[in-house]
Amino acid sequence: MEVHRLFSVPILQLRLSTHNEYVFNYPKVGELKNNKPVSWVGAVNTTFPKAKGDNIVSKEQLERLKNDITKEIEVAFLHLNLTSRFTIDEFWYNIYEKGFGQEAHDHLSYNPVTDPLWSGVYYHKNCSSIPTVFLRPDSKFRCQLFDGCGDSQIGDAFLGNWSPQVSDGDIILFPPYLQHYVFCDIDDVETRMTFSFNIDRTTGDICREAWDRDFSVPWDSGQGGTQPPEMPS
Ligand SMILES: [Fe+2]
Repeated sequence: MEVHRLFSVPILQLRLSTHNEYVFNYPKVGELKNNKPVSWVGAVNTTFPKAKGDNIVSKEQLERLKNDITKEIEVAFLHLNLTSRFTIDEFWYNIYEKGFGQEAHDHLSYNPVTDPLWSGVYYHKNCSSIPTVFLRPDSKFRCQLFDGCGDSQIGDAFLGNWSPQVSDGDIILFPPYLQHYVFCDIDDVETRMTFSFNIDRTTGDICREAWDRDFSVPWDSGQGGTQPPEMPS
């Protein structure tokens, strides 16, 4: 017998080798300001969509950190034979304390031309006990569930969500379409800090490939439309 595992979702876990060189002016628990964007639900202290430098992380630290993360990703992409033509565009930090969190969301932009290539999180401080939860993109797998299915030899095929085990200093790269959330529900004396970012393509050619990829499947049931939209010129 052979088991085929189809359509896997890639998540890359890297290590920021310069992690220990970064110390910021962390706000204390109880002093954290909730400044979430209007469209977000969970409370969070964030610089979304772009950190510009402030009294917590200086502009110089931001630039250096972004460069260091870019270098780690370049090595990983080279190792996996992925594209070297990318840039980190949006780059922001989130700080959480108990009761703070982010509801399920993805990083798509509603336009395949401007969708990120990858998205990422750098787990900077106090993250190991408060993981990101990634959600499976489809729900139809539920028709196969049964009591104890997770213990079967193909239990991984029945996973509805998944959380990476991370240590501070880890970087997780994930597809921008993958929904994820985080919720701080444990008492802690320290705030949790992550940096989030999107990785963009650097050439128009790759944008066209992405568009063709997204709409190359038969455009029929379940897509909510009958024809793929025109690609903008
Ligand atoms: Fe996110």
